[in-house]
Parts: sequence; structure tokens; C-alpha cells
Amino acid sequence: MAEDLHIIQGTKAEQYETILPQIKALITGEPDLTANLANISAALKEQFGWLWVGFYLVKEDELVLGPFQGPVACTRIRKGRGVCGAAWERAETLVVPDVEAFPGHIACSSLSRSEIVIPLIHNGEVKGVLDVDSTDLNTFDETDRRFLEEITGWIFTS
Ligand code: SME
Repeated sequence: MAEDLHIIQGTKAEQYETILPQIKALITGEPDLTANLANISAALKEQFGWLWVGFYLVKEDELVLGPFQGPVACTRIRKGRGVCGAAWERAETLVVPDVEAFPGHIACSSLSRSEIVIPLIHNGEVKGVLDVDSTDLNTFDETDRRFLEEITGWIFTS
């Protein structure tokens, strides 16, 4: 496939509806996890311009930083710690409208104001998380949850 993304203006749902098939095309038939996580991060960052988009992967009972786009980030996160560790422990998506109001939030960047973390679940186990950070409060909602969960659902089946 061509490497250029088609980036649009529009409602949040319209932006997801345009970028999702492009992400699917990028990862379909490619078995390499690192390559796919890298392209998913890049495509989402390019469409939405969020502060930070990336992955942490479960390795020996810690989350370890994986492919991402944005400022340098914390390398390791323990289970239950921060939004990422909590999403891992609970095996559920966490939408955080104001990171300062989330007990134990880990401030990798002082610019981050709101966040969404989606666990990557495969065969009933959390294998990692997709973490997205915004410089604005209240950036993420049910629309983000729905579309980002759809994308993460492709990761171990592409
Ligand atoms: N804020 C996250 C840590 C990861 S960075 O935002 C990239 C957390 O509380 O888990």
C-alpha cells in the first residue's frame, strides 16, 4: 500500500472512520508486532495530533515501553500503577478526563491533561496497553473508546 495517509478535517467520528480502514490496510498481512504498533501509533498521531500515542507491552510482570509517537516517556510501569497499570490490572479501558484527579497518575509529561488507556487482550490475557495523552482536559469519550477498542482488537489477529 502507499505510505501516504489520507488525513481529513471533520468530526471525531469522521476522522476515525477515515483513518480506521487505512490502519487496517497497514497492518493486515503483516505479522510483525513491532511494525504494526509503530504504524498504528504514527497513523493516530498524524490524524489527531495528540500529545502522545503509543504502546506498553507486558514483559515479566511489568509494562515496558513499546512503539510510540510523542515525547520521551516512562520506560517501565508496574501492575496497578498509574492509568496504564490500572487498565492492565482491571483489564478494561480507562477514560481519564483530568489526569490530576486520577489517584496515582504517572506524569511522564507535565503537558498531559487527559488520557485514555485501552488494554490489549488476547486469549483472555492483557498483553499490553494502548495509551493516548492529550494536552487538553476532557479530550476522550465513548467515541474514542469505541474506535480505539476496534483498532486494538485487530492487533493480535492481523
Ligand atoms: N500517564 C501514564 C503513564 C504513561 S505516559 O502518559 C506515556 C499513566 O499514568 O499510566
